[in-house]
Amino acid sequence: MYWTSLIALALIRPSQALIRFGCSQLVVDRLDPLVNPGMEPSPHLHQIIGGNSFNASMYKEDHDLAKLSTCTSCQPSEDFSNYWTASLFFRARNGTYKRVPQKGNVGFEAQRGGMTVYYMQASLGDFQQKAKVKAFQPGFRMLIGSPSASTKPEADKYPQLTYTCLQDMNTRYPETKDFPAKPCPAGIMVNLRFPTCWNGVDLDSPDHISHMSYPANGTFENQGPCPASHPVRVAQVMYEVIFETKAFNKKADWPTDGSQPFVWSFGDTTGFGNHGDYVFGWKDDSLQKILDEECYVQCKTMKTQSIEEMNRCSIPKKVDEDVGDDAWIDAIPDETAIRFWSSP
Ligand SMILES: *[C@@H]1O[C@H](CO)[C@@H](O)[C@H](O)[C@H]1NC(C)=O
Ligand SMILES: *[C@@H]1O[C@H](CO)[C@@H](O)[C@H](O)[C@H]1NC(C)=O
Ligand SMILES: *[C@@H]1O[C@H](CO)[C@@H](O)[C@H](O)[C@H]1NC(C)=O
Repeated sequence: MYWTSLIALALIRPSQALIRFGCSQLVVDRLDPLVNPGMEPSPHLHQIIGGNSFNASMYKEDHDLAKLSTCTSCQPSEDFSNYWTASLFFRARNGTYKRVPQKGNVGFEAQRGGMTVYYMQASLGDFQQKAKVKAFQPGFRMLIGSPSASTKPEADKYPQLTYTCLQDMNTRYPETKDFPAKPCPAGIMVNLRFPTCWNGVDLDSPDHISHMSYPANGTFENQGPCPASHPVRVAQVMYEVIFETKAFNKKADWPTDGSQPFVWSFGDTTGFGNHGDYVFGWKDDSLQKILDEECYVQCKTMKTQSIEEMNRCSIPKKVDEDVGDDAWIDAIPDETAIRFWSSP
């Protein structure tokens, strides 16, 4: 409850310090420059936001997101980072699928799809945001969560990846590690909070996770110390992705066996495989400057653009396939489908 009222308070008192902003959809495509660099198509479908230099081979060290992008779908006009997660599908009783669209948060209703992004210096409820954190370096990237996690113990290795069944747009609890079991009137919110301790050396690592760590004890929120192996405290990046389930909430369309009908684009029906990807791309030291200001949501050093400008920034889909936005599709676009198409 306190969380909701804090955010409500933050919204009506714009002078107060954490960075929170909306981003429209840049593209929904089967590309994954982090895990499957160069592959078109990559195994599963993603929803991607941020700078328009995003492409399948942006893993290369000379790919400077801030220089190569000419627009961003995010509200801060100097943020050319890319942020992405898997896409979500609804499976009808007859076994066909539709992609579940996303919608903007309160205050960002006019944005096209996308999500909300946070960078936090201290816990979400801390209006002062005085705990100093370091911004990421050019070339930095990471992911969190595992698409192959299919049990709660596997999902629990990543403590802060959750689902919230929205009764209304302000619902913030309870959070679960698996998909909500019942229809959610205002949609399903997926929260992804990235680890906050960096080894201070590597911009990436083979699994894209191990250059980062959770605090050694306690949490980021209660200022738990970083482990000696990962001593640099960085901002906590958080995504809120709101899937608009309105068209799929009729119990009569749900499975007769009592299971829930949503499935991630990588085939996960449990929800435990929740994961997200991040590639840093803020212009020069613009992120550090904002993080050095003690501000809550409305940060004077953050240059912004209008929602219309955010909506205008998009790129064409590279992989030409039906992703179930209009008609029902027989299968989720994925590697299984490639195998199916290429077999004689
Ligand atoms: C990605 O962008 C870089 C830089 O503009 C370009 O050199 C490269 O060819 C692009 N790759 C793909 C797969 O489009
Ligand atoms: C499958 O189910 C959907 C949703 O109920 C329906 O709109 C569609 O027409 C059905 N398709 C077939 C081939 O029956
Ligand atoms: C973490 O451990 C340190 C040293 O062992 C201790 O001083 C500190 O209070 C602990 N912090 C939390 C949040 O548990």
